[in-house]
Amino acid sequence: MKKFFIQTFGCQMNVYDSERVAVMLKKAGWEYTEDPEEADLIIINTCSVREKPLLKVFSCTGRFLPLRKRKGVRIFVMGCVAQQLKEQVIEKAPYVDGVFGPGSEDQIPQAAEGDIFPYIATASESLLREEIFPESSRGAFFEPYSSCVTIMHGCNNFCSYCIVPFVRGREVSRTTAAVIDEVKVLVGNGVKDVTLLGQNVNSYRDPETGSDFAALLEQVASKTGIERLRFITSHPKDFGERLAMAFRDIPNLMPYLHLPAQSGNNRILGEMNRRYTVENYLEKMELARKYCPDIALSSDFIVGFPGETRAEFEDTMKLVDRVCYDSIFAFNYSVRPFTKASKMTDDVPEEEKFDRLNCLLDLQRSKIKEVRGRYLGRTIGVLVESESPRGGTLMGRSEHNLVTHIVNSEPGDIGKTVKVKITEILENTLRGEKIKDQ
Ligand code: SAH
Ligand code: SF4
Ligand code: F3S
Repeated sequence: MKKFFIQTFGCQMNVYDSERVAVMLKKAGWEYTEDPEEADLIIINTCSVREKPLLKVFSCTGRFLPLRKRKGVRIFVMGCVAQQLKEQVIEKAPYVDGVFGPGSEDQIPQAAEGDIFPYIATASESLLREEIFPESSRGAFFEPYSSCVTIMHGCNNFCSYCIVPFVRGREVSRTTAAVIDEVKVLVGNGVKDVTLLGQNVNSYRDPETGSDFAALLEQVASKTGIERLRFITSHPKDFGERLAMAFRDIPNLMPYLHLPAQSGNNRILGEMNRRYTVENYLEKMELARKYCPDIALSSDFIVGFPGETRAEFEDTMKLVDRVCYDSIFAFNYSVRPFTKASKMTDDVPEEEKFDRLNCLLDLQRSKIKEVRGRYLGRTIGVLVESESPRGGTLMGRSEHNLVTHIVNSEPGDIGKTVKVKITEILENTLRGEKIKDQ
């Protein structure tokens, strides 16, 4: 049987697309392998949000070149770099056999069997994928117990630094019915934890009924039998009371909110075209905590945006200090083509960007014990998913989305949610003991 291997970079959207491609290939008679040496088809799902992941694409495809020479494997590139560079992917890496932008991945099985190489398929618009990805193309493929479901494609926000609207197109929402059907399929396959995905889930609108994201959450939570529900990403400008209340009112909505601030300085937020102020942002955080006092908050930050002074960066430090996030993701600003910010001078030196990044991450590290200290001694539900990489214990995800190692779990716990008493707060994870006689 012919075998395929997929390597996925980038965000959950890409993980979701890789899963769909994997399911389609399996239906077309292909077998999945985790070992590229065994594969006849190698697919690289790419991200172009910063320059570094883009460069990775070419080092990665290059790594597979000897395999192509030796045994004629096909190398396909899909995802956001495919859409950004189109046929230029082939100019840069002539050994790539196929380029598939978001929305054209359904052509991969047919292209893999065909004889047109290089095969180039890119989308000009974000497509409504109901037609091109039949529901039957869905199943839990890589992770048996937790999965993502894209509820909308594209983005209309045009934050000045961001390439996503240019590679993923404009916002298009799927219908509530399609999302519910898909979550039901996943639940039927044993999935317990589903994350609804969109670049800005707050602007979700059912194309048939016009109902909003809070309504979608209620429907999915109550009509599919899913045990745990989450969502990413919510844009602070659109996060409001209705969605905050969902954390109180929907029992299976997990207490985790990713609300990316990007900066703690109002001038920089304006330059970024984020359309909120630090004061607005803090109000939203308070709103979330009002309805869910135990909520785990997380955020993304960009340091070294064009023109950002050290004092403006210090405002970001103040914000992180004040909010007390469970986790943050921070990135050095990276110039992206097509964006408004690419016309500004990238004037913060690289070493200064790294220094700001390290200061921010150090601050977060220094706060972790204090922030996560609230879990110590508490009993929390953990969905047990796998063995710890170093063996010995099993691990899973806590309600608050933290990896939790369970010292006394048994193999039969995999796939179940067990009650765990948290005994230790580690840098990136929690450790605890399963409560006996559950
Ligand atoms: N839609 C989401 C995030 C999409 S991209 C949102 O609005 O938050 C994920 C993260 O990458 C962003 O939150 C941002 O912090 C970072 N990012 C995007 N463009 C970037 C750039 N040009 N340089 C550095 N980081 C960037
Ligand atoms: Fe990019 Fe902004 Fe859209 Fe997020 S909301 S994907 S940061 S343009
Ligand atoms: Fe990257 Fe595309 Fe996601 S650019 S962050 S993989 S939408």
